[in-house]
Formats: sequence, C-alpha cells, structure tokens
Amino acid sequence: MRRRVLLVFGTRPEAIKMCPLVNELKRRDQLETLVCVTGQHREMLHQVLDVFGVVPDYDLDIMEDAQTLSGVTTSVLQGMRGILDATSPDVVLVHGDTTTSLASALAAFYAQVPVGHVEAGLRTYDLDSPFPEEFNREAVDLLSAYCFAPTKRARENLQAEMPTIAAAPRRRVFVTGNTGIDALRTTVRPDYSNPTLDWAEGSRLLLVTAHRRENLGDPMVHMFRAIRRVVEETEDVKVIYPVHMNPRVREVARAELGGCDRIRLVEPLDVVDFHNFMQRSYLILTDSGGIQEEAPSLGKPVLVMRDTTERPEGVAAGTLRLVGTDEKAIHAACRELLDDPSAYAAMAHASNPYGDGHACERIADVLCQE
Ligand code: UD1
Ligand code: UDP
Repeated sequence: MRRRVLLVFGTRPEAIKMCPLVNELKRRDQLETLVCVTGQHREMLHQVLDVFGVVPDYDLDIMEDAQTLSGVTTSVLQGMRGILDATSPDVVLVHGDTTTSLASALAAFYAQVPVGHVEAGLRTYDLDSPFPEEFNREAVDLLSAYCFAPTKRARENLQAEMPTIAAAPRRRVFVTGNTGIDALRTTVRPDYSNPTLDWAEGSRLLLVTAHRRENLGDPMVHMFRAIRRVVEETEDVKVIYPVHMNPRVREVARAELGGCDRIRLVEPLDVVDFHNFMQRSYLILTDSGGIQEEAPSLGKPVLVMRDTTERPEGVAAGTLRLVGTDEKAIHAACRELLDDPSAYAAMAHASNPYGDGHACERIADVLCQE
C-alpha cells in the first residue's frame, strides 16, 4: 500500500516552498501525493502553481476581498473537514505560519491524522511580531508529529521547548534545509530578460516588497516615505515595487510612491520574474519572510523593515540588516549602502544558511522510510 500524503497550502509563499516538494513527492513510487489548495490567495497563488506545473486535486477557493483572520480560519477548518473525509490521508503536510497552515493543521489534528510541518521551529518569541504568524507556527509545531526544520537553529528552538509540551513524545525533528532554496535553484537564469528590468538598466535597482499586517497603516507610510526620499535625492537609483494585492497595501503604495519617474509600481511578479529581479538588484527593501531566505544565496543585501526576524541566520551571515519601520532609520541605512562601498561590500556576498537546495529530497526520504 502506498502511503497517502496530502499537502495543504494557500498563499504565495507557501506555494513557492511547497510546489517543489509536491513535484519531488510525486516522483516517489512509495507515495500517493494529493494537493489541496485553500485559495487563501487567488491570483498570487495561481501564478506559482502555473510556474511549477502543479495542478491541485482540491481547491477550497475561499479568498474574499478584505478577508479577516477569523473568516479565513473558519472557512479552511470547515473546508478541510470534507477534504480529510474524502481522502483519508496517512499524513498531512502544511507549511510555515499562515492562517491556512494553522487551520489545516488543526483540521488534521481533529481528524487524528499526523501532521508534518515544513519550515518548523522558526521563532521570534514575540506574539505581536509577526502577527499572527508567530502564534500560528508555534501552534502548528505543538501538534505536529514531523517537524521539518530548515536549520540547526530551528531544531534547537524545537528541542528547547520539548520538556514543556505534551506533543514531545511523538514529535520527530529533522533538519532538512529550506525548500525555498530548492525553488531558487530552478528559477534564476543568466539569459533572463524583461522590459521592466531594461528600464532600470544603468541605474542601481532597489527592489521593494511590503505587506506585513503589523506594518499596515502608519509604519508602511514611514517605510515608503524613506524610500521616496532616497530616490528623489539619488539620480542613479530606480525602484521596482511589485505591489501586494492587499488593497490596504495598494492604497498606501499609490499615495506615497506614485507619480515618481524613477519608481515603478507593478503587479505581483511571478516567482521566476521575481527571483531574476532580485538577482539584478543592487539592494532589497522588504518586510517579507521568504525573501530573507533567498537573498543570502544571491548575495544581495536586504534591509528588513521589521523590528524582529525569525531568520537570524541571514543576519549572522551578514546579508540581512534589521532596520525597523522608522523613516529616519530606513533612510540612513539606505544612504550608507548607496554611499559607502565598503559597507555595501560587507553585506553583498553570497552565503547559504538555509540549505543546499535538496530539502525536498530529505523530506521525501523521511516520508518514504516510515
Ligand atoms: C498572508 C499571510 C502572511 C503571508 C502573506 C503572503 C496569514 C495570517 N498571513 O498575509 O503570513 O506573508 O499572506 O503574501 O495567513 N489578495 C488578492 N489576491 C491574492 C492575494 C491577496 O486580492 O492573490 C488580497 C485580498 O483582498 C485579501 C488580501 O489581499 O483579502 C489579504 O490577503 P491575506 O492572505 O489575508 O493577507 P495577510 O494575512 O496579510
Ligand atoms: N515573490 C514573488 N513575486 C513578487 C514578490 C515576492 O514571487 O512580486 C516571492 C519571493 O521571492 C518569496 C515569496 O514571494 O519567495 C515571499 O512572499 P511574501 O513576501 O508574500 O510572503 P512571506 O514570505 O513574507 O510570508
């Protein structure tokens, strides 16, 4: 009997890190691999599925405009009940820290199906930052039978809490590397070209993304004002910002960064485009989680516009710097990297703290050996 594995994911970052795993698991004869997408994201999720050629077996299609955390949680929990009844999986795999991850892991737990958590053990130990992701990942780890930790540090976080948790006797922890690095191995191409990149040719390109819930409103206004100031005072700098589809992000982006010749606000890029844009950029400014993992491999300095990070490995490697959301601090950090070649060189070196690009094979090996 083949072991039936059900992967559940719903947002862009989960898809980027789960699709390479889907494709690896499908190559294993010992496993029957099924995919359920929750549709927490719609356009941004389908962009990724198309790139990796993954066709879901089930789509809960739950996304609504201005959706709430309670609404997403309820829809996924309800929807997953039917999927679990219909598929009777031997194991359910979820990824990371989204509402999809939490609710689908909880649904599996209620159905007494073992959960495998891909990208387990990340921590800021701050419930407000990132919100609500820190709670989500801690909660998913609490009920998971398999914790696939991307780094040794993540494994240490999981081991440190073992003495206090009920799940300890059945929890098994494996260090696998991050599956996002597997994805990166297939996307960056030396012969890549794109008209938007041509527009930035000859300038230093700042690539920007922003979407964190705790940054919506004033922090985002300050982040964008700092970026606009840098562009307006530096002639050889151009900005490309693929704007997240959250209307609350779009509104501030348009108001603060619109109408400037050297700033392009574009639609979300597909992952092949985005990774190649990263590769051509001078500097990245972001509050994203996944970009903090990808940039060190590409040797691109990242100013992380957050107060905390669950990815300290990239900070230790020297490619990430936490700058918070204060306008002056972001402006000063940008200026240093634009004006001081030695400060730039100190951050712009490739290192790979998140694995060797073979994380999916390691996870598949564990699932096949059970
Ligand atoms: C969610 C995740 C966050 C992750 C981020 C990735 C949670 C709690 N948060 O953010 O961890 O970093 O996704 O991007 O799960 N929208 C569209 N089309 C899309 C996607 C989004 O129109 O393809 C719009 C919708 O109006 C939607 C809104 O964006 O209501 C917000 O999406 P949502 O998934 O709720 O965003 P976050 O929770 O902020
Ligand atoms: N990304 C993308 N297109 C974009 C912006 C980002 O494909 O226009 C990719 C990026 O390379 C990374 C992931 O999306 O792999 C990060 O997603 P996001 O920032 O939405 O979520 P987070 O990682 O913060 O959870």
